[in-house]
Amino acid sequence: MAKSQVIAIGCDHIVTDTKMRLSDSLKAHGHTVIDCGTYDNTRTHYPIYGKRVGELVASGEADAGIVLCGTGIGITNAVNKVPGVRCALVRDMTTAVWARRHLDANVCGFGGRIVGEFLINDIAEAFLAAEYEPTPESDALVAKIDAVEHAASAQSDPHFFDEFLEKWDRGEYED
Ligand code: RB5
Repeated sequence: MAKSQVIAIGCDHIVTDTKMRLSDSLKAHGHTVIDCGTYDNTRTHYPIYGKRVGELVASGEADAGIVLCGTGIGITNAVNKVPGVRCALVRDMTTAVWARRHLDANVCGFGGRIVGEFLINDIAEAFLAAEYEPTPESDALVAKIDAVEHAASAQSDPHFFDEFLEKWDRGEYED
């Protein structure tokens, strides 16, 4: 079993039920969960939740993060834009464990409509139990990847997503 950790989780409105069952599983394994939303099935804008999870992980308030959307593509892209985040989109145990061991991944992402719920729960636990195994090669690779990142100047503005939320409220988005 992984040592007890603080885990930030987030999802879009498509897979909230899956995230809640993952949250229950994480708690049953002794982890503390910070649920960054979304909290129901009302249509929303998933980069918000990826950003929130990423910020908690990057700041050290959470030890690791887990994000989910329908395919996993959108929210893993969003969380990976937060400086300090290395998120792996996975659907098998080995990829999740290797992402942690060799690339020091600190967020794990899933397509909640792609991967079954039991498998998500088990992969998440395997990801959290795995630890980075630093070598000069891995350290250099992680440093190179981190060197690519840059923060958008407006990213820390709490109203960063207002424009999109207003459009969403007006019904201008469709799934
Ligand atoms: C639905 O909003 C869908 O686009 C989302 O769940 C995700 O699959 C995006 O990558």
